Amino acid sequence: MPRVTRVPSALPPALEAREVRHGFGNQTVLHGVSLAVQPGEVVAVSGPSGSGKSTLLHLLGGLDTPQGGEVWWAGERVDTLNTQARARRRAGRVGLVFQHHYLLEDLSVLDNVRVPALLSGDGGEERARGLLERVGLADRGRDLPGVLSGGERQRVALARALVTRPAVVLADEPTGSLDRANADRVAELLLGLAREEGSGVLLVTHDERQAGRADRALHLLDGRIGEEQEELGHPAS
Ligand SMILES: Nc1ncnc2c1ncn2[C@@H]1O[C@H](COP(=O)(O)OP(=O)(O)OP(=O)(O)O)[C@@H](O)[C@H]1O
Ligand SMILES: [Mg+2]
Repeated sequence: MPRVTRVPSALPPALEAREVRHGFGNQTVLHGVSLAVQPGEVVAVSGPSGSGKSTLLHLLGGLDTPQGGEVWWAGERVDTLNTQARARRRAGRVGLVFQHHYLLEDLSVLDNVRVPALLSGDGGEERARGLLERVGLADRGRDLPGVLSGGERQRVALARALVTRPAVVLADEPTGSLDRANADRVAELLLGLAREEGSGVLLVTHDERQAGRADRALHLLDGRIGEEQEELGHPAS
């Protein structure tokens, strides 16, 4: 039985790429990538090192502008916006989690979680406290990030990514620097929180166990995206 991957909904995709092309110098990395993440859907992206996964995530997160094609967030085209307008749109639509957590070392854990909410003009303190509690760090809000473990820091980064209730969370190897137990805990929290909140997730991962938690798995190869449904642990028998 094929698994149902679409969430029936009149809403536009949380995230959409249409024929996205990008490269560096005379190297073309992405040759026209199209994909969509529906609200509440978890999509995994895998592919060899250097295949352009991080490049794609940066473009989809609006941190960089594609050389061709279109990026849409919750029904609005954003690749044509200037950096400032895009940063304003990002709040509430897109949360970002990276392999290394990029916390601001001079701010408390609680303030780190609040940063995206501050940018959107919404203080979000209660929301931030709730998320810290949800990731098991309720009593660490006043600490500086420097005293936390790697797994704890990544859980702060998850809380930060979700604080504005984004339509989609883009995560680039979020468990890549963690040991197996912490990786499982962070992946469970990411997917569990996103499902509770109805956020879509685009998860870049090398780890087949993590990819197996997704609703759908995509593979980036030679600058193009393919679907690999048979890889999802649903043997065709
Ligand atoms: N800022 C940049 N300037 C020049 N080349 C770049 C830049 N960013 C990425 N590249 C090149 O683009 C290609 C894709 O890199 P990217 O980081 O997207 O790969 P990746 O799939 O994320 O790899 P990994 O699995 O190792 O993280 C690589 O050949 C890389 O050298
Ligand atoms: Mg990468």
